[in-house]
Amino acid sequence: MANVPLRNGGPAARIAVIPGDGIGKEVTPEAVKVLKAVAAPTKRPCEFVEFDWSADKYLREGVTLPAGAVEMLRDEFDAILFGALGDPRVPSNQHAAEILLGLRFQLDLYVNIRPVELLHDRLTPLRDRTEKDIRLIVFRENTEGLYVGVGGFFKKGTPDEIAVQEDVNSRKGVERIIRYAFEYARQNNRKRVCMSDKSNAMTFAHDLWQRVFQEVRREYPEIECRHLYIDTLAMEIVRDPRQFDIIVTCNLFGDIISDLGAQLAGGLGLAPSGNIHPGRTSLFEPVHGSAPNIAGKGIANPFGSVLASAMMLEFLGWKPEADALRAAVRSAVRENYVTPDLGGDKRTAEVGDWLAQKAAQQVIHRS
Ligand SMILES: NC(=O)c1ccc[n+]([C@@H]2O[C@H](COP(=O)([O-])OP(=O)(O)OC[C@H]3O[C@@H](n4cnc5c(N)ncnc54)[C@H](O)[C@@H]3O)[C@@H](O)[C@H]2O)c1
Repeated sequence: MANVPLRNGGPAARIAVIPGDGIGKEVTPEAVKVLKAVAAPTKRPCEFVEFDWSADKYLREGVTLPAGAVEMLRDEFDAILFGALGDPRVPSNQHAAEILLGLRFQLDLYVNIRPVELLHDRLTPLRDRTEKDIRLIVFRENTEGLYVGVGGFFKKGTPDEIAVQEDVNSRKGVERIIRYAFEYARQNNRKRVCMSDKSNAMTFAHDLWQRVFQEVRREYPEIECRHLYIDTLAMEIVRDPRQFDIIVTCNLFGDIISDLGAQLAGGLGLAPSGNIHPGRTSLFEPVHGSAPNIAGKGIANPFGSVLASAMMLEFLGWKPEADALRAAVRSAVRENYVTPDLGGDKRTAEVGDWLAQKAAQQVIHRS
């Protein structure tokens, strides 16, 4: 699994918890439960402070991200554990965009790291693939591209309407995510980096990606480099995922290809992600959304949130605890102690209790 760069490696941690909407409110408390269980035997001070930023708050008070929230998180917390945002009562998705994209942009969390790791052969929909075949990491640029919200309408609501959405790519933004992917490869003994774009059609924005990739790769001669257009990458990752080790790409393509990857490894229920600015307060969340179709039923899979918590612990320098969380999830998968999305009959809280107990045993055993 991914090693993420350290925040401070200190003995104490202050974690902001934002469960959000839908199943975010169901899986996040389970992750906190597991985190507390794993911190207790080591006696490391670990404080959790919950914030109710969500559709409920937005509908009640008209507030998305409160004034001063970004500065408070940046200055007073080491990390943020985030659930999901999205509610059918807010069709514009305004609160989600302002809170999640607001945090990603304003905290400058430019690395979105999304590991895709198959935990058990039976979980992949691909025929004859095993755990060792699917072990890749997607590095998605997280602060630019088509998600910056630059654009507008002309003659909105008329037959002549025009809608424009700009794809913003800065030299600095492209270089830092590509460099980060190479650095990560070097530090974690990963051998291959594949950059994916659509430079044959997006001849300005992705020409920049091409030039920067060619430049940065020269600094990492020991790493095997490859370029694929995003449509080819989508095909190849399904045909033979063994080809891929580290993938680096832009915001939009990273969003899509990491969901595809998540499906190859058993579905959205167990995919984690980190939104990182090395050395600064960073945010960790499951890849999935608020899943309104299953919200309130108590059957959401908490693995994505727990594995995101493991990434967070690693970021904080708590490696044994991070390993204990991952080992607990692996055991649950192996023993089929899982929610219905993975073919089991367990409820979210039952899985959370089981993981908490297992992770605490693991950490005692390892320390
Ligand atoms: N980071 C985020 O907060 C985030 C990410 C994606 C989507 N969203 C929002 O979430 C809402 C729903 O979006 P969507 O339906 O496209 O995506 P989704 O990830 O919420 O759900 C997609 C499918 O996967 C299933 N699923 C997802 N997570 C699961 C889990 N933990 N356990 C079991 N099944 C799980 C859902 O039931 C659904 O069938 C929308 O408002 C969307 O904007 C938010």
